[in-house]
Amino acid sequence: MQCLPSLRHMNGSLLFTVFSLIFFGLINSAQASLFDDILQALKNMVDCSSCHATLVTLQTAAFQGDDTFNSVFIQLCDALKLADPDVCQGTLSTTGPIIAHDLRSINASDQTAGRLCDALFGFCSSNVSTPFTVPLPPPKANNAPPVPPSERREPFQVVHISDVHIDREYTVGAEANCTKTICCRNFPDQAGRNITEPAEPNGNHNCDSPISLADSMLEAVNDINPKFVIFTGDVVDHANWLSNQLDVTNDLEEFNADLLLKVNTQVFPSLGRHHDSSPVNAFARKTSMTANDSQWVFDLESAGWEQWIGNQASDQVRHDSGSYAALVPETNLVILSVNTQYWYKQNFWLYDSDEFQPDPNDVLAFMVGQLQAAEDAGQKVWVIGHIPLGSEDIMEDQSNYYDQILQRYKDTIVGQFFGHSHKDQFQIAYSNYNEQTAANAVSAALIGPALTPTSGNPAFKVYDVDPDTFSVMNMRVIFSNTSDPSFQVEPKWELLYDARETYGPLVGLPDDSELTPAFWHNLTKVFEKNNTAFQLYNTFLSRGSLVKACDEACKSNTICDQRAFRSENNCDTPSGGVSLGRRDIGSSFSFVDDECEGSGIRSLLYEMRAKLQT
Ligand SMILES: *[C@@H]1O[C@H](CO)[C@@H](O)[C@H](O)[C@H]1NC(C)=O
Ligand SMILES: *[C@@H]1O[C@H](CO)[C@@H](O)[C@H](O)[C@H]1NC(C)=O
Ligand SMILES: *[C@@H]1O[C@H](CO)[C@@H](O)[C@H](O)[C@H]1NC(C)=O
Ligand SMILES: *[C@@H]1O[C@H](CO)[C@@H](O)[C@H](O)[C@H]1NC(C)=O
Ligand SMILES: *[C@@H]1O[C@H](CO)[C@@H](O)[C@H](O)[C@H]1NC(C)=O
Ligand SMILES: *[C@@H]1O[C@H](CO)[C@@H](O)[C@H](O)[C@H]1NC(C)=O
Ligand SMILES: *[C@@H]1O[C@H](CO)[C@@H](O)[C@H](O)[C@H]1NC(C)=O
Ligand SMILES: *[C@@H]1O[C@H](CO)[C@@H](O)[C@H](O)[C@H]1NC(C)=O
Repeated sequence: MQCLPSLRHMNGSLLFTVFSLIFFGLINSAQASLFDDILQALKNMVDCSSCHATLVTLQTAAFQGDDTFNSVFIQLCDALKLADPDVCQGTLSTTGPIIAHDLRSINASDQTAGRLCDALFGFCSSNVSTPFTVPLPPPKANNAPPVPPSERREPFQVVHISDVHIDREYTVGAEANCTKTICCRNFPDQAGRNITEPAEPNGNHNCDSPISLADSMLEAVNDINPKFVIFTGDVVDHANWLSNQLDVTNDLEEFNADLLLKVNTQVFPSLGRHHDSSPVNAFARKTSMTANDSQWVFDLESAGWEQWIGNQASDQVRHDSGSYAALVPETNLVILSVNTQYWYKQNFWLYDSDEFQPDPNDVLAFMVGQLQAAEDAGQKVWVIGHIPLGSEDIMEDQSNYYDQILQRYKDTIVGQFFGHSHKDQFQIAYSNYNEQTAANAVSAALIGPALTPTSGNPAFKVYDVDPDTFSVMNMRVIFSNTSDPSFQVEPKWELLYDARETYGPLVGLPDDSELTPAFWHNLTKVFEKNNTAFQLYNTFLSRGSLVKACDEACKSNTICDQRAFRSENNCDTPSGGVSLGRRDIGSSFSFVDDECEGSGIRSLLYEMRAKLQT
């Protein structure tokens, strides 16, 4: 499995030969000079301003039509052997037209172009956010937070599952050692090859989840007997280059049916990222003149989720671009599920206008409306969504605006839950990010691990929840060990760790205390001093499998990221260029890892540039 092919295999003279071949063999003379211009532009791109200049050249290609635009990049991708030909073709022909549309719609010198540079090449990232004050109703004068109950009642359990990435074409016996993003499928271009590593029944680290693995997890989830289940998105496999609406529709419907069949309780889902739309990542804004093409996803999930979330919330999914709010029956707790896709840098529909849009599709306004209603009704809220707001791949703008909403409603929002990174992580929000102290910690987002084995052992989380405050009292991670001989026969689901038992004594957590934001902050202080404890966390990130070594620099980045619910405060900013900047030092959530999960086109373009400059 390869996300980013190694740069080492191609030296300068080989590159020269490849280009000569393209020049004289594959491209007509009209396209040749355009092609050459693009090569030069990619070679010359070293900083934000040269990235803007490159976009001017790419614009010229875009104005010649989608076909020309795609074909130049597909041929480059093939010539540089950035991926298998079917991957080059599929990735660029689905996402290429959106980028070409962007380039035709914007001024290559302006700020939207800067944002596109950031999304495609990692340049201009420090220069593209726009201050904006979210309109917020003022708090009521007598809005004091309720006093916590003196005697705690028995907690109830909630299960958090995420990033299931089920590959419904997973084939036992197919090649598990292939050259694509995921393996264990009978890809047409591999027909007739001898298999070096046959796929086993229940999964492989090079492959997305087989149906049997997903079923096994859902049975384990049901055995916990939770009050309800939250699902933070990403249903579809990583074969992005093959993604089409029919397959995605089928995958989403099948997973809803699986959940209904296997889990005897209510499920509160949220929309996933790229994989849950087609082409990947493509959620057009409603202001786009071209398309409204994600409405089918909202319609589909509106119908699919109604059985759990009720008809009012189901209407919201349809009319509010995939977000909804639903009261958990017999409680005072509202689940506010937000579609984070309009804040995701790799949703390339976000770059098709020079007009600054602080709140695409009014998702933030929807949140404010629902939070105000909950505050008025004296309810508590859990926000669930796919992409955590502190990550490098989220727009700094909307992360900042979301944080403003969080600060305003910090007494109403008693939990935040996300997925997407595939890792077991947390991110802390502070009332003052310049003074990151326990007293200033206002919220902690808990990030769920993935089912798909591509980034570690398959896992899910179980929370013990106080029935009065709806705060998390404890968190346990349940995993299945892919290295255990029984895994391929029948996956066993067992406790990896119990947060209260493992971390409580290190922090000095009182017996009846919740896992408060201050607790998570104090844990980061422990990690600073106690490397053994930090290394334990580092092992838990990927559930004890595919663990990446994390040295002092990586550790300091990781702790910085834990304290960055707002993405402008994280330490992940890619500097652009061949050096991947601070991330390259070895953050445990590295840039390259991230690319494996991206749309594919960013890693292709990034790599294209890097190869041309070696
Ligand atoms: C960053 O933005 C500032 C202010 O808009 C501008 O003066 C500067 O040239 C920009 N830098 C780059 C590298 O684009
Ligand atoms: C593009 O933006 C630049 C910088 O903001 C500006 O100077 C230029 O006039 C714009 N071009 C067009 C065609 O609007
Ligand atoms: C597959 O392996 C067999 C037996 O080792 C060998 O004879 C055959 O040539 C191989 N086929 C390919 C396509 O490599
Ligand atoms: C995986 O495939 C590569 C090349 O196709 C081969 O060199 C390697 O030995 C294979 N690995 C295993 C475990 O079979
Ligand atoms: C997009 O979908 C929404 C919700 O169904 C609808 O109200 C709107 O008219 C649609 N816009 C376009 C341009 O089709
Ligand atoms: C966090 O640490 C501070 C300072 O040591 C302490 O006052 C506070 O009680 C701790 N909070 C929790 C929840 O552990
Ligand atoms: C450091 O963490 C380890 C692992 O959790 C723990 O066993 C040890 O007691 C801690 N050391 C100190 C000084 O707290
Ligand atoms: C998984 O199983 C292997 C093989 O039995 C063992 O070495 C490893 O420690 C286990 N991993 C975890 C996290 O328990």
